[in-house]
Amino acid sequence: MSEKILYSYTGIFDTPDEIIHAAEKASEYGFKNYDVHTPYPLHGMNKAMKLPPSKLGYVALVVGLSGALAALLLMFWMSAVDYPIVIGGKPFFSFPAYVPVMFEVTVLSASIATVLTMLFIFFKLPNNAHPLNDTLYMKKVSSDKYGISIQAEDNKFNEADVRRFLEDCDAKEITAVYYDKEEINYKHKILEPKFIGFLLFTALLTSGVTYFTLNKLLYMPPFDWMMEQNKLNPQATSTVFDDGFGMRKPVEGTIARGFTPYSFSGQPEAAEVNLVNPLPVSKSVLELGQQKYDTFCSPCHGYYGEGDSRLRGQFPNPPSLHSEKIRTWKDGRIFHVITDGQNIMPSYSSQLTVNEIWAIVHYTRVLQRALNAKESDLQ
Ligand code: HEC
Repeated sequence: MSEKILYSYTGIFDTPDEIIHAAEKASEYGFKNYDVHTPYPLHGMNKAMKLPPSKLGYVALVVGLSGALAALLLMFWMSAVDYPIVIGGKPFFSFPAYVPVMFEVTVLSASIATVLTMLFIFFKLPNNAHPLNDTLYMKKVSSDKYGISIQAEDNKFNEADVRRFLEDCDAKEITAVYYDKEEINYKHKILEPKFIGFLLFTALLTSGVTYFTLNKLLYMPPFDWMMEQNKLNPQATSTVFDDGFGMRKPVEGTIARGFTPYSFSGQPEAAEVNLVNPLPVSKSVLELGQQKYDTFCSPCHGYYGEGDSRLRGQFPNPPSLHSEKIRTWKDGRIFHVITDGQNIMPSYSSQLTVNEIWAIVHYTRVLQRALNAKESDLQ
């Protein structure tokens, strides 16, 4: 057993108020090297001990800002220098798009740096030896007591004075804590071959098991049941048909269920003669017609059918729907143009149902009548 060295004098208190009071007195007395131990954080302790604000905030600030800057530079380099691609007509250096990533990187780097600095610089991990470890004092203050420990290295330290000081504060169980040379020179065992070997073994084992599971085990029966299924994958070769194609075209003339093909394709005159608008001219039909017209027709024909498109010349303007010709067309002919298209106007049969088209036809009549009202409409 080597020589004992005095580390500190400790005193125990029963209530939070007492310990706060003792801390106040200790800082007033002029002690610098002392510490207070409580089972949980106490409000007002920083003030009582007159502690300056923690320096951890500066670490967070510096590392956080560096993280933001690094993210900005990385994204700038990737999207404006190394691989410039125009996305949605935006400039290569589009700052607003970088903000979320910069924010995330700031938060991530600042929080990781804070934790690591706290553990490895402030707490000096992995070295966790401390004279107060394994003392009765530490046992009590980590359970239900409050303690103060005044260190021997303090300039104002003097055994008799400190003892008296603690007694004045009404401390119970005033004890001296000693440590020995062995404890000071204690080296943490993190670089021991045994420990490194254990880490290596664990790393190899986990990666080996992961590799085996994902690359081998999943391909062995019975674990491969999801992969080996009795089915033909799209694009795969089939041995069933001579041509080797797995995907087959529908038989000529196949019609989807519930779908009636348009029978007047390419025959506007026949459509005009044979097709009759089955819908009544009611408020709900006209409202449906207006809604669908505004959505599908107005971009080119204008809201009132005057041929004033909103497409700014990207598509040729259509003729007015108020011409003598269209006004005298029967409903079936307009139905035909919408269903079958006419010259450059495309067919709308895949976007609109038959009923919707008939509703639009009624609505077109409303537009026409609004611009060419007869004497009788005024009565
Ligand atoms: C992409 C633009 C565009 C859209 C959308 C569009 N049309 Fe047309 N429409 C045209 C053009 C262009 C013409 C002229 C075609 C031609 O050269 O015969 C035309 C022609 C017509 C005609 C015949 C006019 C005439 O004088 O021969 C009618 C009726 C018509 N459209 C109705 C509609 C209705 C109803 C809708 C909505 C379902 C619609 N169009 C949607 C561009 C469009």
